[in-house]
Amino acid sequence: MCVDGICGKHTSFKQLFFSKFIEHHINVINNVESRFKPYLYIDPFGGPGHISCKDGYDGPVSSVRVGQLMIQYNMNYNIVVAEKNLTSAEKLKDALGQYCSNFTIKSDAMETIPSHDNYRFGMMYLDPPMTKDSFSLVEELMVQTSLMMPRLDLLLYIGANWIKRFRGNSNVEFSTFLEDFTNKVNKEFWVIKQQVGGNQYTFLAGTNYKGWAEWGKEYFYSTDDIRGKKIMFRLNYSEPERLFITTGMVQKGF
Ligand SMILES: C[S@@+](CC[C@H](N)C(=O)[O-])C[C@H]1O[C@@H](n2cnc3c(N)ncnc32)[C@H](O)[C@@H]1O
Repeated sequence: MCVDGICGKHTSFKQLFFSKFIEHHINVINNVESRFKPYLYIDPFGGPGHISCKDGYDGPVSSVRVGQLMIQYNMNYNIVVAEKNLTSAEKLKDALGQYCSNFTIKSDAMETIPSHDNYRFGMMYLDPPMTKDSFSLVEELMVQTSLMMPRLDLLLYIGANWIKRFRGNSNVEFSTFLEDFTNKVNKEFWVIKQQVGGNQYTFLAGTNYKGWAEWGKEYFYSTDDIRGKKIMFRLNYSEPERLFITTGMVQKGF
């Protein structure tokens, strides 16, 4: 079953990288002092539990994968998900229930912003639909969460070209740049992944703890590193914007 808006050309890329990365993160957090536990995983855009997509991916959605890993690593945890589609929310509840009991399902992404806690570790994973309204929601979620829980890391999956497309459409009021997330959200350190496909799908992660994130073998670089800077420049600006910034020239037709 391919659910509308869930499967895309790069779903396999997304799910496989997410799975590797979250396992890496869980391992790092598992090794820190026990007073920081249990691990908190927040997923404001939950999805339907299990997906089977044309690009070959057939498996659990992100939060269910996390539930499986929590059992595998024998971790103390809490999972908080939101899913606004009722049918998907029911499926998600059933799928999560097969692996774990410490989970809560909300009906709207904004309800997942955590209460203030200086000590809790974990991850908020944002995998929104590629719409203008979702991007504004994502910004709000990231800004608020970074203030409420400074030790909770953030991982965003986004098609950078969608941001540029909305920005370039004169009928749409939209002035966001990918880099705005790193500027507006209160995290000291950011990593960005080499993009895939024409819509420039990428992962962007923010943390206040430098120890875990950079991961060169997976093409996941600090935005302070020359490789990360290059990726961010390419994904932040459209081709005409890049031409203007580097040469001062304006491309015909723009
Ligand atoms: C791209 S899918 C998430 C897929 C999931 N992370 C996975 O691993 O397959 C986005 C989901 O967010 C849900 N959604 C969209 N806006 C939402 C909102 N405001 N609150 C909660 N869920 C929302 C959609 O119904 C959809 O199921």
